[in-house]
Amino acid sequence: MTTVLAIETSCDETAVAIVNNRKVCSSIVTSQISVHGQYGGVVPEVASRQHLEVVNQAIAQALEQANLGWQDIDGVAATCAPGLVGALLVGLMAGKTLAMLHNKPFLGVHHLEGHIYANYLSEPSLEPPFLSLLVSGGHTSLIHVQDCGVYETLGTTRDDAAGEAFDKVARLLKLGYPGGPIIDKLAQEGNPQAFRLPEGKVSLPQGGYHPYDASFSGLKTAVLRLVQKFEAENQPVPVADIAASFQETVAKALTKRAIACALHHNLSAIAVGGGVAANSALRSHLQAAASQQHIRVFFPPLKYCTDNAAMIACAAAEHLKMGDTSSFSLGVHSRLSLSQIRELYTLS
Ligand code: KG4
Ligand code: ZN
Repeated sequence: MTTVLAIETSCDETAVAIVNNRKVCSSIVTSQISVHGQYGGVVPEVASRQHLEVVNQAIAQALEQANLGWQDIDGVAATCAPGLVGALLVGLMAGKTLAMLHNKPFLGVHHLEGHIYANYLSEPSLEPPFLSLLVSGGHTSLIHVQDCGVYETLGTTRDDAAGEAFDKVARLLKLGYPGGPIIDKLAQEGNPQAFRLPEGKVSLPQGGYHPYDASFSGLKTAVLRLVQKFEAENQPVPVADIAASFQETVAKALTKRAIACALHHNLSAIAVGGGVAANSALRSHLQAAASQQHIRVFFPPLKYCTDNAAMIACAAAEHLKMGDTSSFSLGVHSRLSLSQIRELYTLS
């Protein structure tokens, strides 16, 4: 049994959680959305300061909610890449200090690995190999999870990440931030077939299209043109219909690529992760398409789709069980590919 306390401060959520293998003992998430909302996006310096203000309290709350003391903790983890450097540093320094103070092993965790392992929190039977569809504000990837720490990226986005596309389209529809949940809610009142929008195929130099890569910038531009057309004609912008059509296009594009990728690589399970995994259209399209192909599909509970520390603790517990620990000299990285993940650990 491995119990890990983890800290996640890579972007605009200060989160601390304690996880025992795949069981969540406590999970504290303090969101900064109201602070950044007025700017329409995350302001890095503001994020770091907010993390500093609440991280100690969140650590105390996580221990209290779990009803555990330091004697019960086997390891301390913190997200160390990728993310905002100043924000990551707050969590990393807090984690290292606590590990040193209480004489526990320390582990730096790759944020995307956390999103992959969010699925373990609700699915005790899920084990590699499987395909991870990772769709967040910063990433859109199809990853072949071969083993803990062994990942092959098979597909990606050529421009905007899926969540970023939701946020940008919400901004141009003047709906607020973060765009995903707002568009998802509004889309329930709209007609997903109202407008035909481009799904964002990626051409290959030798002809044809890349089977797994996506591009969302053309879709975003198409929505902009649509809004401009209604405005130029002095007509009210049908916001709900546009939101529903946009969401439908993204959900179908992601579903098509994930199913093709799983079939070509002979993978019988798809585990979705990241904030966009909360999207209702993606959930229903992917579930329907996967069941036709006899592929199992997993979505984390909504609270573990968006950023949280339980998923980071779960990833750390998997590494700790394999004997992985990180050096106290480990730094943060604003970018780090999943294929470089071994650089975070020294085998004990
Ligand atoms: O994983 P996450 O919390 O942070 C990153 O690591 O990026 O993902 C945040 C992203 C935001 O872009 C947000 O708009 C999107 O996830 N999101 C959604 C939904 N809930 C959050 N996108 C579509 N539908 C949702 N229901
Ligand atoms: Zn994330």
